Amino acid sequence: MRPFPQPGELVVVVADLEVGEERLAALRAHFSPRELQRYQSFAHDQHRFRWGAARGTLREVLGAALGQPPAAVAFRYGGHGKPGVEGLHFNISHSGARALIALAQVEVGADIELPRPRRTDDIARRFYAPGEIERLFRLSDPAARQAEFFRLWTCKEAFLKVTGEGLSRSTRSYEVELRDDGSARLLWARGIADAAQRYSVHPLDPGAPYRAAVVAEAPALAVRRLPWP
Ligand SMILES: CC(C)(COP(=O)(O)OP(=O)(O)OC[C@H]1O[C@@H](n2cnc3c(N)ncnc32)[C@H](O)[C@@H]1OP(=O)(O)O)[C@@H](O)C(=O)NCCC(=O)NCCS
Repeated sequence: MRPFPQPGELVVVVADLEVGEERLAALRAHFSPRELQRYQSFAHDQHRFRWGAARGTLREVLGAALGQPPAAVAFRYGGHGKPGVEGLHFNISHSGARALIALAQVEVGADIELPRPRRTDDIARRFYAPGEIERLFRLSDPAARQAEFFRLWTCKEAFLKVTGEGLSRSTRSYEVELRDDGSARLLWARGIADAAQRYSVHPLDPGAPYRAAVVAEAPALAVRRLPWP
């Protein structure tokens, strides 16, 4: 199946980063000198191997989509460090042993998280918008609330990444609503008058216990999962 997204389509790859030595060496062979430097700079082997597998897979997927060899994919970087390529929009996220890659003909932001035990109630009170906090704390069961916290977290991160602003935007400056049917939508975002119409939120199931979401700059998109490799 061709990786290049059709208009109206969101192509999603969930990649396993626990790859064997041979595959990792093949992926690393596509790296630029700057990527090799970054690869070498990780203090922990596991972090280095997983980052290498994620970056190598990203080069493979983008190369296949653009009809280029993986090593020829030329990255450029936006103001807050968002990577891009000519002719296609993409974004990548990695957590634990998984990466999420999203491709579309419109701007996208991706987030995947391996939920870890954290003081999620405190984090929510500090980082979520008032309406999000209100809805979250309607769930009285702590386990259900924690699961909802991570669903929301990935949507919020994906929004920071679709605009490319990253943490230069306050996480309280926009509001995401999760619905019972598993869908989600952006209600408002400070400074973007038509935000609710402009963006769509796509919660994804990358396989338990991971959580993931993509936000796209289009009112609606059809999600296509692309198995890789
Ligand atoms: C950089 C940031 C955009 C995402 O970082 P993250 O969640 O730690 O990591 P992810 O794996 O999801 O994303 C990293 C990738 O995003 C891409 N990226 C970097 N800057 C980006 C930006 N400004 N916009 C979009 N994507 C960006 C890169 O490809 C990067 O991959 P690399 O590290 O292999 O180069 C930023 O939002 C961040 O540091 N967040 C920290 C988490 C936090 O406190 N969030 C509160 C949420 S309620």
